Amino acid sequence: MDSITILQPDDWHAHLRDGESLKRTVPDLARQFNRVICMPNLVPPVKTVSEAQAYRERIMAHVPEGVNFDPRMVLYFTDHTVPDEVAKIKASNEVNAIKLYPAGATTNSDSGVSDIRKVYHVIEQLEEHQVPLLLHGEVTHNHVDIFDREKRFLDEVLTPLLRQFPNLKMVLEHITTADAANFVLEQGRNVAATITPQHLLFNRNDLLVGGVKPHFYCLPILKRQSHQTTLLEVATSGNPKFFLGTDSAPHAQSKKENACGCAGCYSAPYAIELYAQAFDQMGKIEKLEGFASHFGADFYGLARNTDTITLVRKPQTIAERMDYLPNDDIIPLHAGQTIDWSVVSGGS
Ligand code: DOR
Ligand code: ZN
Repeated sequence: MDSITILQPDDWHAHLRDGESLKRTVPDLARQFNRVICMPNLVPPVKTVSEAQAYRERIMAHVPEGVNFDPRMVLYFTDHTVPDEVAKIKASNEVNAIKLYPAGATTNSDSGVSDIRKVYHVIEQLEEHQVPLLLHGEVTHNHVDIFDREKRFLDEVLTPLLRQFPNLKMVLEHITTADAANFVLEQGRNVAATITPQHLLFNRNDLLVGGVKPHFYCLPILKRQSHQTTLLEVATSGNPKFFLGTDSAPHAQSKKENACGCAGCYSAPYAIELYAQAFDQMGKIEKLEGFASHFGADFYGLARNTDTITLVRKPQTIAERMDYLPNDDIIPLHAGQTIDWSVVSGGS
């Protein structure tokens, strides 16, 4: 198949940041996606429904003329989140979920939850109101190897959590291991997962062999090839528990090419084409639409989009760099490389 028309996709996990960054991130995402779940790990984090509404307005100010774009907001879970905030999320038209970062797990997660058992009284409300809990699924103890942190989270945090709250609606974000994929497969329909383009297209050799490649560094970190293979299998299987979430996470070039480089891959400008590349490599391009445009909306209980986009097999070269901050560019994921697919219509 050399051409595919699909319902407009949505991105169920992206970092847009704030201020100057929005000039770059909003048009890049809005070119292809309708709904985007906007991560709340700003400095300071987005903790209440009213803060989320104000952030949404700052985002909307950067949507290009004539483009339909519907940012979906998420609150940042802290040790101090009050149970009553959950009913406010449920009643809100703009906020769809709450995101739990274990404190210290990743970028701007210092205000995250220090011990999940401390917030079980809030999680009880999430289960009651069927508000999705979005999870960064890694333990943070110093003594746990970085490549084992997702698996340990499944065993030590998620298993007891789901035993306590069996009907909790939950998305295990940006899964990176066969262990996580199998865990999600074993649960009921209330448990789903997002998968990023970098975890489908790359593995830790791309990050580390022949020199450290900071633009492939993200969290959870890329794993070995056997995990990549399982992620490709589940993403392209047509199982509605797995859907698109780029985790596009912009950091300026100077913050990535640094002795202490930031975690995050900036995939937003070419995201749907990168996913098309991965699905096509598996001979499963016909499964892209479910993953990109149906399953996430269905899980969140939102209507599917009605517009379409068309992708064709037409090579394009990803930019080497893109404008970002006044004196600091951004390097997109897979910069300077040629991919096989291009959006020809629908995307604006
Ligand atoms: O690589 C990552 N970057 N992983 C995250 O969980 C956060 C993100 C960011 O905000 O930069
Ligand atoms: Zn993220």
